[in-house]
Amino acid sequence: MGLFQLFGKETVVGIDIGSSCIKAVEIEPYGSGWRLANAGIQATPPESCRDGVITNTLDVAQAVKTLLRCANMRAQGAIAAISGSQVIVRQVKFPKMTEASLRKSIRFEASKYVSASMEDSVVEFQILDNAQADDQMNVMLVAAPRDMIESRVAVLEMAGLEPISIDVEAFALIRSLAERSLDSEFLKGSVALIDMGASHTDVNIVCDGDFALTRNVPIAGDSLTSAIKSLTAFSFEDSERLKFEMTLQDSVDQLSSQETENKCWRVVQPLLDELLREIRRSMHYYQSQFPEGAEQAVIKRIILSGGGSRMPGMPAYVSSKLNIPVEIADVFGNSLISPGRFTPDFIDEYGPALAIAAGLALKEDAARAALPMAA
Ligand SMILES: Nc1ncnc2c1ncn2[C@@H]1O[C@H](COP(=O)(O)OP(=O)(O)OP(=O)(O)O)[C@@H](O)[C@H]1O
Ligand SMILES: [Mg+2]
Repeated sequence: MGLFQLFGKETVVGIDIGSSCIKAVEIEPYGSGWRLANAGIQATPPESCRDGVITNTLDVAQAVKTLLRCANMRAQGAIAAISGSQVIVRQVKFPKMTEASLRKSIRFEASKYVSASMEDSVVEFQILDNAQADDQMNVMLVAAPRDMIESRVAVLEMAGLEPISIDVEAFALIRSLAERSLDSEFLKGSVALIDMGASHTDVNIVCDGDFALTRNVPIAGDSLTSAIKSLTAFSFEDSERLKFEMTLQDSVDQLSSQETENKCWRVVQPLLDELLREIRRSMHYYQSQFPEGAEQAVIKRIILSGGGSRMPGMPAYVSSKLNIPVEIADVFGNSLISPGRFTPDFIDEYGPALAIAAGLALKEDAARAALPMAA
């Protein structure tokens, strides 16, 4: 009998497989909340994951195995997540009907949004509320390429884990940053959770504590590194290092005395500004759904997560361009999840990148009831 079964519960590890890094988090109940039990980050094998699709399951599984060993993780169950431009997440209205009837019509509804073949897509749904006065009910529809889900299941199995569920990154982020937050402000009005990764940036909006919108923008950390690489003709790794040394500047007067940094900033800034334009567009789209003057249309805060948010000066830069207060995700600070044995330095440095993995680990008991995996 395994150690964890002695306590009558199986532990679960949340595994966020990104194109640049794999993040793993174990969370355990602690007092009236939770605490971080184990956490680790491992580089994703080069060229093995792009826009949410894992192309080399064997190498990624090996990296997950190494990560679990190095981080001392013993969980048997695992939850991973999907994201990327091919993942459709939408709230749709349906006439009131039973779950069984909805299951029959959901694929037709999904076919309106899915550009790939429906045969190669997995479609799932959740009825959000059917107690509305009219004859309608709100349904959360999720559709994704079958191989995106199956490759994650395969990676977890090859790494010796039992796949419990495949979630959506946006839902995991909302779980760790909004639902478990001690900040009751989340429960009223609209907040944007923006995850800045390597290959994509996810713009998620939470309204009155619930998921409202997710949008994927293909400008992120790699775009900035590639621009520096083209400018300097350095390797990708050296260009990453140069990027890490940069501090985002608001205006040319503040440019650093370092000539190389200034040159890099001149190629990075247009990309960053394009990303911010896309974020603004997503926000405007969200706001256009409310009548004028509606309180919910005001996005009152932006919370940044993901490795890309660690660029020095990022919150101030985003805030100055979008005119909204911006903060870095404090998953293990102002929340029901305490940092446990992890030092403030570790939490400062890696906390924002662990937000999705933490949300996956928190799915725990709800896991079996949620998005079922591809058959
Ligand atoms: N200190 C830093 N300064 C600037 N960028 C950083 C820093 N630390 C990490 N990054 C960038 O963050 C990105 C990795 O973040 P993250 O682990 O969230 O991405 P990912 O989940 O692997 O990618 P994706 O979700 O897009 O597939 C890389 O582009 C990396 O260069
Ligand atoms: Mg990511």
